[in-house]
Amino acid sequence: MGPAAIDIGKLYRDTGHFTYDQGFVATASCKSAITYIDGDEGVLLYRGYPIEQLAKHSNFLEVAHLLINGELPTADEFKAFEHEVTHHTMMHESLKTFMQGFHYDAHPMAMLCGVIGSLAAFYHDKLDIDDPEHRRLAAIRLIAKMPTIAAAAYRYSIGWPIRFPRNNLDYCHRFLHMMFEVPSEPLDLPPVAAKALDLLFILHADHEQNASTSTVRLVGSTGANPYACIAAGIAALWGPAHGGANEAVLTMLQEIGDAKNVAQAVERAKDKDSGFRLMGFGHRVYKNFDPRATIIREMCHKVLNELGVSDPLLDIAMELEQVALKDEYFVQRKLYPNVDFYSGIIYKALGIPTSMFTVMFAIARTAGWVAHWLEQSADPTVKIGRPRQVYTGPVSRDYVSIDKR
Ligand code: ACO
Repeated sequence: MGPAAIDIGKLYRDTGHFTYDQGFVATASCKSAITYIDGDEGVLLYRGYPIEQLAKHSNFLEVAHLLINGELPTADEFKAFEHEVTHHTMMHESLKTFMQGFHYDAHPMAMLCGVIGSLAAFYHDKLDIDDPEHRRLAAIRLIAKMPTIAAAAYRYSIGWPIRFPRNNLDYCHRFLHMMFEVPSEPLDLPPVAAKALDLLFILHADHEQNASTSTVRLVGSTGANPYACIAAGIAALWGPAHGGANEAVLTMLQEIGDAKNVAQAVERAKDKDSGFRLMGFGHRVYKNFDPRATIIREMCHKVLNELGVSDPLLDIAMELEQVALKDEYFVQRKLYPNVDFYSGIIYKALGIPTSMFTVMFAIARTAGWVAHWLEQSADPTVKIGRPRQVYTGPVSRDYVSIDKR
């Protein structure tokens, strides 16, 4: 016989502590020296550096170095890091065959998840997870190959042949070339395109224990292959409550269709029965402006101005922000635009299709994911992540044979 009643006290007695924290609202799952957020003040620091300063002065690869190694690189260190990343950008030829197995209209996030996971099969035997140098190399490979695989997924989805990485270009230019270059015409990229992409990558690079990073850590805590850990992170990122929000924002703005329909959309978002939320609004940690959203909004205007693009979706987004920020419902709940609210409008202006928006997020967040995986893997005190539960099912009952049920 099992217990007569559910005994939460026993769980407490067994472990010395027991907390029910649905959604991990108030539980720290690890110690980390990578990223700091003060959600009430709207502060975000990578290794102590304010995001505003990094956005203004740094570049994505330098930020990746900072997240992974804890310090900004010297000029020589940066050169060596960039060289190493560049050296690992190629995709194994067999991965092309692997990709060809996907249905022609597969979502690029599905392809990214599958192909990154499959890297475990390519590098598993050579990987000694206990060797710091092997771990570092896995991290470099992931940062290097993610744009190549992302661009290949896009080209496959539109029936274009895959482009090899051009290693005389920097990280963002290389990615844009792999996405858009066609053999007959040189790609004429406006300077603001790679700059805007670099900024978006910096702002999305890390955000402490968000759902996807926590997933990477949880999977990593079992000693799993790093490529499998990152594939799990990609899967978690895909959901519309997390990274998938940037795609959902654009769909929402298109559905609203006109600034004059904004007030009605805001009313609908307040109605819990409607099942509709303002995508790109609200955050688990920020109860103030998301500092990344403020920087992205500014870049959004710059990109549209420099490209000479007039996008009615920007007018709808600005109207939506104005109306929601004055509305008692959003004010009381401290719901502000988050990082995803304006990013989609920039991606759209750069010619990146909506289905690729979350993939763009994944490229950037890879820097954070691998930094957290490396930090955790180097800590000998880390235990396997194993949450408990509050059991709500039947306590104990006797088996009844099928003819008597
Ligand atoms: N629109 C309307 N109401 C909202 C929204 C929204 N976008 N976000 C939260 N609320 C309401 C909730 O209904 C709830 O109301 P209640 O207190 O009356 O029940 C209250 O605000 C608190 O919301 P929760 O869902 O409990 O907050 P949580 O911290 O769990 O969720 C989340 C945060 C998932 C980001 C949520 O705000 C949301 O769904 N936003 C839209 C999706 C989005 O933009 N996601 C991207 C997040 S940033 C990132 O991952 C990169």
